[in-house]
Amino acid sequence: CGIVGYVGPQNALDVVLEGLRRLEYRGYDSAGVAVLADGGQATAKKAGKLANLEKALADSPLPESTIGIGHTRWATHGGPTDRNAHPHLSADGKVAVIHNGIIENFAALRAECETAGVEFASETDTEVTAHLLAATYDATPEGPGRLAEAMRAVSRRLEGAFTLVASHADEPDTLVASRRNSPLVVGVGDGDGEYFLGSDVAAFIAHTREARELGQDQVVEIDRNRGLTVTDFGGTVVEPTAYTVNWDAAAAEKGGHDWFMLKEIAEQPQAVADTLLGRLGDDGRLVLDEVRLTDQDLRDIDKVFVVSCGTSYHAGLIAKYAIEHWTRIPVEVEVASEFRYRDPVLDRSTLVVVISQSGETMDTLMALRHAKDQKARVLAICNVNGSTIPRESDAVLYTHAGPEIAVASTKSFLAQIVACYLVGLFLAQIRGIKYTDEVAAIVEDIRGLPQAVEQVLTQMEPVRELGRSLADADTILFLGRHVGFPVALEGALKLKELAYIHAEGFAAGELKHGPIALIDQGTPVVVVVPSPRSRESVHGKVVSNIQEVRARGARTIVIAEEGDDDVLPYADHVIRVPRTPTLLAPIVTTVPLQVLACEIADTRGYDVDQPRNLAKSVTVE
Ligand code: G6P
Repeated sequence: CGIVGYVGPQNALDVVLEGLRRLEYRGYDSAGVAVLADGGQATAKKAGKLANLEKALADSPLPESTIGIGHTRWATHGGPTDRNAHPHLSADGKVAVIHNGIIENFAALRAECETAGVEFASETDTEVTAHLLAATYDATPEGPGRLAEAMRAVSRRLEGAFTLVASHADEPDTLVASRRNSPLVVGVGDGDGEYFLGSDVAAFIAHTREARELGQDQVVEIDRNRGLTVTDFGGTVVEPTAYTVNWDAAAAEKGGHDWFMLKEIAEQPQAVADTLLGRLGDDGRLVLDEVRLTDQDLRDIDKVFVVSCGTSYHAGLIAKYAIEHWTRIPVEVEVASEFRYRDPVLDRSTLVVVISQSGETMDTLMALRHAKDQKARVLAICNVNGSTIPRESDAVLYTHAGPEIAVASTKSFLAQIVACYLVGLFLAQIRGIKYTDEVAAIVEDIRGLPQAVEQVLTQMEPVRELGRSLADADTILFLGRHVGFPVALEGALKLKELAYIHAEGFAAGELKHGPIALIDQGTPVVVVVPSPRSRESVHGKVVSNIQEVRARGARTIVIAEEGDDDVLPYADHVIRVPRTPTLLAPIVTTVPLQVLACEIADTRGYDVDQPRNLAKSVTVE
């Protein structure tokens, strides 16, 4: 997930390791380096933290070099092991490659290499690019720019998202890199012939602030003698955008945001897009290849349990609405710590979906083991490849949200909800439930979700302003119906976690059965309003609920779809979200609640990324 490259007068290993340290905040589970020396590649790679790599380098040092690459990996294809760590070498040992992203068509490319006699040394999707690059280089005419030409030819064959950086033993002064839907920046050093590559500017900010931004589908060559050349994948030279980085090192890590949480909120369109990547086929059918259960296993399912904790539990609550509606299979949702000790009724036709960002939450792990003891099938939805929960499950669907640093979960929550939609649609598809027009249309709507989240994010300034005005509140209530109810619970949880304000989420229909007594003059009440197009007139009922609380003195903050004017007479503040089908609405309605909690906590002077008493991953019961 972190990429560093260096060509210049300094010791490359020192520069690369320092760059990797500055990228540590991105999260990773293994690390590796390669330098060009004595006509060959010299590499070292280790699972675990950078300290493991540094120890390996101290025990067996690499030769001195002034050109090298380094990588910190966040496992996607293949667990976090020494072997799967980057760089990956071609079979002849000449090409070294590091990669971020997911190469979707790697299986076909791997088969092609294997037919040509290549033996693979890892389980990664990346390794295929090293072999392809070596073969393509050999087939490219000699001359300047040969490695870049080979990189363009390989890039044209890749599907998915990638940043690739490569070196070749026969080209001791050159690094090449390629990018599509995955970040890469170039740093230009002070002296002649000094260049840096980084997945973000934090990688080289200690050395230079002069940067070049690469566009989509571009290849860059940095050469000690010939300088910097950028082309598109076809070979046409393009001028990269030059800019000067004005962040300090700490801000650079957060991509210019004040908090990791804000950075992660901003990354949500990407997290949603990456979780969908390669899983929605062109024909509207779903492609989920990591589901290792057989079609027959899935057809036999007559009951689903969703089991998880904290924010992941809220994703499960949303899953219930979607999965039951699309598949007509009964779904129960329960917090893991209760499920485990309640003696739930399970058997081999029960599917237990465990949701965990970290894959290490002890409560969830114990629930998983309990489910397996009862012979239930277990499907994990998880963000950390190779963690314990997916390892012990029968099937895994990874959320590709990327590493999440802030303790309070944001982008992985949205990715979990998307993964739950995929599970629901997949079950509907595999069981041959009449694949109604509605379900087919939903697939199209899901494709538009990254764009919808993007749109919400452009409208957050008034939400921040509202947050600042709420910083002195003693209590804030959240109401929602249908899928808006779990969103209300999540909004309240975020506020508790970050701002230490008493907050409660309620099903709006329950208001009259008790919670309405809490409403006092000026009590802020956030209402998640369903789409006016939702079934069974839940929209009208929620609008009535807004009136009821307002009549009792509440200050109403209403999250409503664009064009929903019914709420206007009763809303003190309206936060708009794009029109979205009812079941998909949590993807957009959650975002303002995250921003609101973050802003309130920041205004109160709290550490947003590391709230008191909380841990990112709780490994005790
Ligand atoms: C901790 C975190 C929460 C998270 C929960 C479940 O309590 O502070 O943000 O939602 O664990 O974590 P998991 O990794 O299993 O999703």
